Amino acid sequence: MNALRIGIAGLGTVGVSTVQVIEQHKELLAKRAGRPIKIVAVSARSRTLDRGIDISSYRWCDDSAEMADADDIDLVIELIGGSDGIAKVLAEKALAAGKHIVTANKALIAHHGTALAEIAEKSGAAIYCEAAVAGGIPILKALREGLAGNQISRVYGILNGTCNYILTEMRDTGRTFDDVLLEAQKLGYAEADPTFDVDGIDTAHKLAILSAISFGTKVDFEGIYVEGIREIAPIDIEFAEELGFGIKLLGIASKNGDEIEQRVHACMVPIDAPINHVEGSFNAVVADGDFVVSVLHEGRGAGGGPTASAVIADVIDIARGHRVPLFGIPATELEAVPTRGMNHHKGAYYVRFNVVDESGVLADIARALTDHKVSMESVLQRSRDPNQIVPVVMTLHETEEAAMRRAVDQISKIGAVVEPPVVIRIEEF
Ligand SMILES: NC(=O)c1ccc[n+]([C@@H]2O[C@H](COP(=O)([O-])OP(=O)(O)OC[C@H]3O[C@@H](n4cnc5c(N)ncnc54)[C@H](OP(=O)(O)O)[C@@H]3O)[C@@H](O)[C@H]2O)c1
Repeated sequence: MNALRIGIAGLGTVGVSTVQVIEQHKELLAKRAGRPIKIVAVSARSRTLDRGIDISSYRWCDDSAEMADADDIDLVIELIGGSDGIAKVLAEKALAAGKHIVTANKALIAHHGTALAEIAEKSGAAIYCEAAVAGGIPILKALREGLAGNQISRVYGILNGTCNYILTEMRDTGRTFDDVLLEAQKLGYAEADPTFDVDGIDTAHKLAILSAISFGTKVDFEGIYVEGIREIAPIDIEFAEELGFGIKLLGIASKNGDEIEQRVHACMVPIDAPINHVEGSFNAVVADGDFVVSVLHEGRGAGGGPTASAVIADVIDIARGHRVPLFGIPATELEAVPTRGMNHHKGAYYVRFNVVDESGVLADIARALTDHKVSMESVLQRSRDPNQIVPVVMTLHETEEAAMRRAVDQISKIGAVVEPPVVIRIEEF
């Protein structure tokens, strides 16, 4: 059978590993795909940079977009990154020309996934992005195919290894967020600009994709409520443990009637919950389905090898002629479902205030909660020396987010309350 001819755009961490898998497993992949898989052309910014691999037998494209028009390329692997710019141009042009696209680019799919899937369906090309969500974990295939018999009611996970690493280190060493982030940057675990990771944006990109596949809805990145982990202090991790919880940055999407809820924020999860045992830079995704009940997938969410592993799985599917729409159902049938605003979210909460320990403060706090019909489950206070600043921690019974916010605002205005409060949502899994 004819070889599947590939162009690889982007030869960074993932691009180089992808070349290595294709060359090192040439025979294995040919058997699995039923035909040879052959790299024809490559592209990156610098032609001369030593990447530790031999690219001399591949054609060099100065402009990646050339691959979209090349007659000798059947499939373009896009490993450049970015939601717009060259990655988008290349994907659009290649798909319109009937060439298949495999990408690891979550930002591209989170922002333009529905439109790209529509272009692909018109031209008959395939687009897959297994590597875009949770790196080496084959979660998109699992949701689209392995769990295809289920109505998915909720999908959630640890989708950013950098955040999970930072939170794990903070818990194990008692160090602050800033301290651990700095060290992670020095060790190369975190980007020089960590914004996308620690502010939850990267997790939200991945959640947007998971959510569209799980619920058959149009990708709605803008509808996601996003918070990061900068506000988490070591003392919150200590209190969490005292209360029987661990702290994780989760992306959570659920379907409630005609609405979906999509949110990314730090969560307190029961210490015994399987997701709490996902440590360090590992990722995990849990899908709740009506017949399967619950499935957890765990593994490496980033790094050249694991990500290339997912890229190659998509390439083999395409080589075999196996076609499934990017989001499980045709893009034209994806529903535009309203996202439930965070104010309507219902859940339990952990709230920490730093207060000057003077008489009457707890009574004032209790009054604010009563005023907004919010009910307290427990309260913890560390020290009772008069006039010292002490943390007061409350857990609140399930309530609507808007009511919790109003109560917390009122409490923040009490004279003895210094510093803005820290609020962490409690999840029961
Ligand atoms: N790294 C991971 O662990 C991981 C995990 C999951 C998904 N991803 C996704 O995979 C994609 C690639 O990530 P990466 O970590 O491999 O990135 P990277 O190491 O920064 O590599 C990016 C590559 O794109 C090339 N490039 C940049 N601008 C270009 C342009 N205008 N035209 C042609 N080539 C251009 C760069 O060329 P030069 O080398 O010449 O500068 C480089 O080879 C991203 O979408 C990322 O989100 C990465």
